[in-house]
Amino acid sequence: MAETRIETNRLILRDWREEDWPRFWEGTNTENVMRWLGGVCDEAKRTAAQERLLSYEREHGHTFWCVERKEDGAILGFCGLKRCNQAGGPIGMMEAGWRLREDAWGKGYAKEAAIASLDAAFNRFGADEVIALTVQRNEGSWGLMKRLGMRRREDLDFDNAEFDKEEPVIIVYSIDRDAWDARHG
Ligand SMILES: CC(C)(COP(=O)(O)OP(=O)(O)OC[C@H]1O[C@@H](n2cnc3c(N)ncnc32)[C@H](O)[C@@H]1OP(=O)(O)O)[C@@H](O)C(=O)NCCC(=O)NCCS
Repeated sequence: MAETRIETNRLILRDWREEDWPRFWEGTNTENVMRWLGGVCDEAKRTAAQERLLSYEREHGHTFWCVERKEDGAILGFCGLKRCNQAGGPIGMMEAGWRLREDAWGKGYAKEAAIASLDAAFNRFGADEVIALTVQRNEGSWGLMKRLGMRRREDLDFDNAEFDKEEPVIIVYSIDRDAWDARHG
């Protein structure tokens, strides 16, 4: 499978290397980052998550890639593409996702990485539409979806208590190729 390395102004989105994982978890396995993702992960959950990310790469040629900052080589988190595999969700649809360490929030890095990921979805991986999933209380994430020009798809929402037990619904946003081209083409 071809190696993935996508450069933006300030970032590199690339395949995972063994040595990335401790740095990734050190930055992102915190209360605030994991607040709407089921909480801080123990070792078993971390290993399972790593295995999933590597399996997406093997099976589909894309995953939530490692996000490295060019300036200093810091591992900021991940951003990229998977196929929706959430129970009850629109299984198989191209799905964008992001998770950055907290000191990298509020700098436009997530948007920069997400634009590169969506561009790859449409122009490299042949997607006609890309969805993104979150919970209503994760304003940071759906705020980014809106900033990317994605629109709310209540018709695709589904029940799932994995991320927010009090409001056990996953909400869906999406953007299709025409809308993406009109905005970013
Ligand atoms: C979701 C998440 C990735 C969003 O990150 P973010 O930094 O808020 O998103 P953006 O990259 O779009 O940055 C936007 C902010 O950067 C600011 N900014 C600063 N410099 C900027 C630049 N050069 N370009 C664009 N925006 C810039 C914007 O003004 C905006 O700030 P505001 O929110 O105060 O208005 C982040 O909150 C996160 O990792 N959360 C935890 C994990 C998670 O929940 N993931 C999603 C699961 S569904």
